[in-house]
Amino acid sequence: MLKIPFNIPFVSGNEITYINKVISSNTFSSPGIFTKKCEEKLSKITGCKNIKLTTSCTSALELAALALDIKAGDEVIVPSFTFVSSANAFALSSAKLIFLDINPQTMCLDYSLLKNSISKKTKAVVLVHYAGLTEEVDKIAELCKQKGIFLVEDAAQSINSYYNNKHLGTFGDIGCISFHDTKNIHCGEGGAILINNKSLIHKIEVCFEKGTNRADFLAGKIANYSWQSLGSSYGLSEINAAFLYAQLLSIKKVTTERQKIYSLYQKNLNQLRKKGIIDFPETKNKHNAHIFFIKCNSESVRNNLLTYLKKNGISAHVHYSPLHKSNMGKQFKFIKSKKDFSLSESKRMLRLPLYYNMSKANEITKLILNFYNQ
Ligand SMILES: Cc1ncc(COP(=O)(O)O)c(C=O)c1O
Repeated sequence: MLKIPFNIPFVSGNEITYINKVISSNTFSSPGIFTKKCEEKLSKITGCKNIKLTTSCTSALELAALALDIKAGDEVIVPSFTFVSSANAFALSSAKLIFLDINPQTMCLDYSLLKNSISKKTKAVVLVHYAGLTEEVDKIAELCKQKGIFLVEDAAQSINSYYNNKHLGTFGDIGCISFHDTKNIHCGEGGAILINNKSLIHKIEVCFEKGTNRADFLAGKIANYSWQSLGSSYGLSEINAAFLYAQLLSIKKVTTERQKIYSLYQKNLNQLRKKGIIDFPETKNKHNAHIFFIKCNSESVRNNLLTYLKKNGISAHVHYSPLHKSNMGKQFKFIKSKKDFSLSESKRMLRLPLYYNMSKANEITKLILNFYNQ
């Protein structure tokens, strides 16, 4: 029987060489040579000049909330269909979350709904780029600018993903990326904050350095550093940065391989799509093939397919339970679209295995075709 896991984290083979360089350099904490190398490489990939490596995307989002001075009573608009960190980071700052529904075509925030949901109390919008399908990012960024609202892009899944040739995470004031081992490239746990709004650079540097002006000290601008404001410890260790650097050097190879598997899924399953038996997204966006999902016509069919694949050794996954339905999320307002798409679409979705060098896409799609032929 086949045995296909949902994900196998990528390993380039060069990680240990770079980690050994850290050991012989005697600098293990942030920022060292590999932190700088990663930040430079990320600048080349994303086009953003001001980047800091963080311990996770979650911590990058928390840093964003702190630096934007989110306070009790400030409204922060977040999609309900997302990972918990997109919302939790702002709830930690006592924000009043407003959960917004998604556009079922893009699985991301719905522009028209967003436009009508902004109030005088809205301080920030969190735009989550799900599976690289996001649309109208430029319009959302423009809307936030016009209204004087901060735009934070949760680009956790988006390394090497573009909209209109501009990297996701570089449209708003701040972008947050994940290098968790579930992502295309990783360092176990890690992340990055992209600071696009220059006026936020200093504030973010202070919050990043435990609330001190250590960045100015490291740049030789001051003799000693001291406590300036609230902050925390967000920097990635050099060991993780060395691991990440090896991975960043393989980004093209990894993306190309994943895109091949993604296209194979699309090609093999197109006959079911044409018959209206399943659906899957199509986009012109140049994305990184992080997630491939299908939508079944009902929750029960989706669950049966999930069980059938499991019985045949294939580990598929469902994706996100809407946050407005969670125990914690229930206390916040949810603004739905024509219907609650966050809920209805999440019940139909099934994510298929996708990782570098996964050679069994044909076998997986064969099983899905068999399931529907039964
Ligand atoms: C949309 C989104 N935001 C945030 C995160 C959190 O990333 P990390 O695990 O790096 O904290 C994830 C993780 O999967 C995610 O998918």
